[in-house]
Amino acid sequence: MCFNFESNKVYAIIGKSGSGKTTLIHILGLLDTFDSGIYSIDNTTIATLNDNELSKIRKEKIGLIFQDYYLNPRLTARENVLIAAYLNTKISKEQREAKVREILKKLNLENRINHYPNELSGGEQQRVCIARALINDPKYILADEPTGALDNENSKIIMEKLLNLKKENKCVIIVTHDLSVAKRADEILELKNFNLEKK
Ligand SMILES: Nc1ncnc2c1ncn2[C@@H]1O[C@H](COP(=O)(O)OP(=O)(O)OP(=O)(O)O)[C@@H](O)[C@H]1O
Ligand SMILES: [Mg+2]
Repeated sequence: MCFNFESNKVYAIIGKSGSGKTTLIHILGLLDTFDSGIYSIDNTTIATLNDNELSKIRKEKIGLIFQDYYLNPRLTARENVLIAAYLNTKISKEQREAKVREILKKLNLENRINHYPNELSGGEQQRVCIARALINDPKYILADEPTGALDNENSKIIMEKLLNLKKENKCVIIVTHDLSVAKRADEILELKNFNLEKK
């Protein structure tokens, strides 16, 4: 299998439960390793990199949105995003704070900034998770079932945000069980027998 994910595009990955979608997202997100094959990001072959180099790519180029949000329950919405913002050491503390407020506002969370995850609805938590994934302006956005736990209305809001990202020259990869979500992507890929097949 050889597949090239491009910028300015939204991809949907579908496939049966257990087909390896989450595993693939974790590999693409550099959270997991692999035994065979070649994976390159922007002409850099991943296998040649050490841990420091891998974390640099992870923090500069990749934004991950998890199905179960993985927010820190002891931190507010603002603080959950701020932690990720701290990975960007090129900007000042004030600039980080400002960016966090701006992105939370963009995601219609300005009234929820100081709330803890257990005080937020599923849709709000997912938007905090999206803010955290986008705060450092990554080129690649990987979303594992981002609308899986949401009702129709929230699902639509999240999808609009993700689809709009391609206009910002990004590559968005969305794992989904929902065909109506998949149909809105530029390309649908099915993971079958460890192969990505174009639909
Ligand atoms: N940490 C692990 N160690 C060993 N096997 C694993 C591990 N995580 C997942 N698997 C197995 O790898 C296969 C692929 O799992 P994966 O979670 O990637 O599937 P998926 O397509 O995301 O499924 P779902 O649609 O249910 O989320 C499954 O058979 C699963 O049991
Ligand atoms: Mg999965």
